[in-house]
Amino acid sequence: MNVLSVASEVYPLVKTGGLADVVGALPSALLPHGIRVRTLVPGYPAVLHKLKKKKAVGGIDNLFGHPARMLAAEYDGLDLLVLDQPELYARDGGPYLDTTGRDYPDNFRRFAALSLAAAEIAGDSVVPGWKPDLVHVHDWQTALTPVYMRFGSAADMPTVMTIHNIAFQGQFGASVFPELSLPPEAFSMQFVEYYGDVGFLKGGLQTATAITTVSPSYAQEILTPEFGMGLEGLLASRVGSLSGIVNGIDAATWNPETDPLIPQNYAHGTLKRRAANRRVLEERFGLDKGPGPIFCVISRLTWQKGIDLLAQVTDDIVALGGKLIVLGSGDAALEGALMAAASRHRGHIGMVIGYDEPLSHLMQAGSDAILIPSRFEPCGLTQLYGLRYGCVPIVARTGGLTDTVIDANEAALAARVATGFQFQPVTADGLRLAIRRAMHAYKEPKVWARLQNQGMKSDVSWAKSAERYASLYSGLLAKG
Ligand code: ADP
Ligand code: GLC
Repeated sequence: MNVLSVASEVYPLVKTGGLADVVGALPSALLPHGIRVRTLVPGYPAVLHKLKKKKAVGGIDNLFGHPARMLAAEYDGLDLLVLDQPELYARDGGPYLDTTGRDYPDNFRRFAALSLAAAEIAGDSVVPGWKPDLVHVHDWQTALTPVYMRFGSAADMPTVMTIHNIAFQGQFGASVFPELSLPPEAFSMQFVEYYGDVGFLKGGLQTATAITTVSPSYAQEILTPEFGMGLEGLLASRVGSLSGIVNGIDAATWNPETDPLIPQNYAHGTLKRRAANRRVLEERFGLDKGPGPIFCVISRLTWQKGIDLLAQVTDDIVALGGKLIVLGSGDAALEGALMAAASRHRGHIGMVIGYDEPLSHLMQAGSDAILIPSRFEPCGLTQLYGLRYGCVPIVARTGGLTDTVIDANEAALAARVATGFQFQPVTADGLRLAIRRAMHAYKEPKVWARLQNQGMKSDVSWAKSAERYASLYSGLLAKG
């Protein structure tokens, strides 16, 4: 089976979050199931620069007023198609934001173009000799693909739309509609019209053959007004086509036994070796040497991630004898609050503002626990990396965090299945209590080591989830 996967980011070429990790890892996990995935991404400078050997395999004469080239390349096991269109993608900033952190004003056009190109590939008019059996799109940036397909020459091809985060919906004023090259009837409830605006994600959810999200719990949650962000009604009407498939991790990139980005490799039998990584971390974050657990946070610093709750418990962490290190960037007020905590507690709290992939590996390999106080979390990947690295996750009981961490309550401890700590309600008090519970467990080295070992043994691979995607795809093809 040939699948075209369409996304706005893919690890290791361009990444702003978990979406890239998932889009980058799924193709090789699907290969054993006889599924060959080609991944279509925009030709951002970062992507074009990294791809040394690329060849033009087709083109579109007029993509919103400009010609575009379709390039093919292999990279790190990925079979890529790259939409090369400099007017849209040759920019100095990131994939979505300019160098001052503002959305590009033409993001609707940049991602409608990606979606239209995907639909034309499916319709067999762009890459001569290659055509997918099914198209899989991710998040709002590619959500117009099934809409374009519906009005194009691939109307019968099955599509899967995965929601990685329903908070980002790609909603634009109605004035963009005439620019989208869609027929007038597409501006209606059944397609992209959304409370008088144009909704990219909305259009995708209406038209995709199947909808998935990245954990079973989040699939339930988005049917409620609290988590559905306005789309709960639409999703309820499509509930028979909605499922939750939990993310896995790329076990080659994230393996403490072989990870080249950490100073000391280790396995579950040799956890003591983590101490060497801890020492490097202490240096890096200017922490005092000495006992007590190091809690880490590797995150976008936003309300979604509950970073305001974290800012409220920093003094408590230090008072309890713990240390805190934070890597991330985002909301300026939250960055400021954490910086203030770091200067209040020099030697106990360290902070690096920015994005640093190697440092994120070191933090998982040298910290004792990872804090994830998210208000909502479709899946979350850092708790999975934590499990794999013996860095015990302390998580809010929401979305994929619920599904992937087993709380260390008495029964779970006795049954030797606990892998971390969950808390609810998701408030500063809830988080504080979870940190206290973790401190308590940390003081009993045997209990702590058991938590680490159980986490390291838990299955965070793509194996089971790839099987679920494979059977979803085959089911759709069989129906078609
Ligand atoms: P989200 O996609 O909502 O941001 P996930 O937990 O799914 O959350 O994925 C986040 C990914 O980005 C993980 O791979 C994590 O390690 C990485 N990450 C987040 N912030 C940083 C940072 N500041 N530096 C390096 N990696 C980061
Ligand atoms: C989104 C979600 C995150 C999920 C990631 C990959 O960014 O916020 O929870 O892990 O997508 O699916």
